[in-house]
This record gives sequence, C-alpha cells and structure tokens, in this order.
Amino acid sequence: MASTSLPRALSGIQPTSASFHLGNYIGALRQWVALQETHEVFYFLADLHSLTLEPPLPADLTYRSRSAAAQLIAAGVNPERSAIFLQSHVGGHTQLSWVLECLTGYGEAQRMTQFKDKMARGAAVSLGLLTYPTLQAADILIYQANHVPVGEDQRQHVELTRNLAQRFNARYGETFVVPDVYITKEAAKILDLQDPSAKMSKSLPEAGTLNLLDDPSALAKKIKRAVTDTETEIRYDPATKPGVSNLLAILAAVTDRSVPALEAEFSGQGYGALKNAVADAVVAFAEPFNSRVAELMADPAEIDRILARGAEQAQPVAAATVTDVYERVGFVPPLGRR
Ligand code: TRP
Repeated sequence: MASTSLPRALSGIQPTSASFHLGNYIGALRQWVALQETHEVFYFLADLHSLTLEPPLPADLTYRSRSAAAQLIAAGVNPERSAIFLQSHVGGHTQLSWVLECLTGYGEAQRMTQFKDKMARGAAVSLGLLTYPTLQAADILIYQANHVPVGEDQRQHVELTRNLAQRFNARYGETFVVPDVYITKEAAKILDLQDPSAKMSKSLPEAGTLNLLDDPSALAKKIKRAVTDTETEIRYDPATKPGVSNLLAILAAVTDRSVPALEAEFSGQGYGALKNAVADAVVAFAEPFNSRVAELMADPAEIDRILARGAEQAQPVAAATVTDVYERVGFVPPLGRR
C-alpha cells in the first residue's frame, strides 16, 4: 500500500442485494475510486451491518458479499493499491464497537434518523439496528481515518462518529483521529425514476431503480419510462422538475460533463432526446461493468484471495487501535502482550 503520509480514507457499503444501483455508484463508489489517487484507502463490505434488518439467507449473504467485491473492482477500486475486505474478517471492529456502545447514550442512538425511519416502517426491530451506528463509528475510528466518503444519508452517522471520537479522547486522552465526512457536490443524490421525490433505493419497486447488473435493455427501458413533468423544457431545477433534473444529474455523472453544458446541448430538444442520451450513456457504462463482474465471479477463489489480502492489510492497523483503546480504558493486557 502507498506511503502512510497520505491522508486516510475509509468507507463501507452493505452487500444487501445482488447488485448495487446507479445511486450507490454516483453517490459513493465513484468517490471511492477517485480517492485512490490522493489517499491511502480502506474499503470494506459491511457484512455485519447487513444482518441488522431482516437477515438474508446465508447462501445469499455469501453470494452477495463476493458479488459486491467484484462490483467494487469492476467500478474501479484497484485491489493492487487499495485494501478491499470484509468487515467480518477483521475482529477489531466488534471489539471496538462494544467500548463505543458504552459511551453512546441510549437516547442518542434512538435519535438517529435512519433508525427512526426504519422503526417507523414497523418491521421487527433488532437491537443491532439500534447499535448499528456505533459499529459504524468503530469501522471508521479503528483505521484512524481522516476522510469518510459516503452518501448524504450517512452524514449523521459520521457526525456521531466524530462525537464519540471526541468523547473518548476527552475522557482517555488523544486516541482517535476525528474524521471528516467527505461528500463532493458531484456525489449527487440520485432519485427514483418512478418517484423522483424519493432517493433511488433497493427497497423501492424495481421500475424506479437502475441496478448496475440489470440487463442493458432493461436499463434502457426503465430510463425511457422515467417520470418527468408536463412541461417540455429541459432545465435543471430539482424543486419543480425533479424527474428531469435527476436525468440530467445521471447523464452528467456518467459522462463526466457538467449540468449547464448538458442544459445548453439539449436546449430546444424534447424529453425523448434526453432519455435516449441517458439510456445510451448508462448502457455504455453498464455493459463493460457487467462483463467485468461476470469475469470476476467466474473465479470466486480469486475474489476470496483479494479479500484475504485486504484483510491482511487492515488487520494490523485495526489491532493496534484496539490494543491502545483497551489499555487506555484500563483492561488488563493479556499476559502474552506484556
Ligand atoms: N452504514 C453504511 C451504509 O449503509 C455502510 C457503512 C458501514 C459505512 N460502516 C461504515 C460507511 C463505515 C462508511 C464508514 O451505507
């Protein structure tokens, strides 16, 4: 891995479905790829977190974890320079999480927006859903990360992480780097194609979600059926034209162009032309992405080797933090370590 004088970036994503969607890519993964140029990076699949709602079937979790790793690599995370690993392979995350749980107020955890939203949906709620953000804080603090590239929905969890780092540091002495959330303006929030008042999400009906591993013809069809508005003008205005603005944001991200340049290009053209351009651009991205994922998934043993190498890079960093924290807290060090 690169020299340690670079700032550190850390992020995780849950392997909760068979395919990441375009919102995951534009909102987070693209930043992960870019940060490899400027940071020492640690990226992991939050398989522990993926048990916090209805736990997946074991075979599905196994498959999705490998598929998620393949998708990170196909998206441009380079395992030769970046540590890619599974959260469950590095025991320190849960060892640190316990200590942080004991520094987190019950009410503080209950006030997390994601927790409240999921509670409100009424499903059976596990204790893990409540402590989810403290595990996330442990994920971040254990690597002494400077920057945490995430989507907007994770901002509050990084805020909590900062608070816990400061709380620990104040009580036990400087231990943790206080991390900053890293959200660029390019990390646009991509909306559901059928309901552009909602974020694109795997929990909404299929028709509004562009899964990266969808068949390209299915992607094009979904884009052509995207909800727009009753006007005809192609203009970026998320408040009054969320559907059209969303299509412009997708096109801008996937083609690396600016929204104003696209508005100029499409001025005077109809929504059909915009949708065709978005469909072409998304398919041009998805086709090579799909073949790369298929190639990687044809050799799961190689994926496991990549994940093992990633865990080997992460492990000593994590273990050093846990040792330091456990000593500061006052746990008697195990004999072998003295
Ligand atoms: N909670 C994040 C999500 O659902 C995933 C995650 C787990 C994460 N641990 C993390 C993200 C640490 C950033 C840092 O998207």
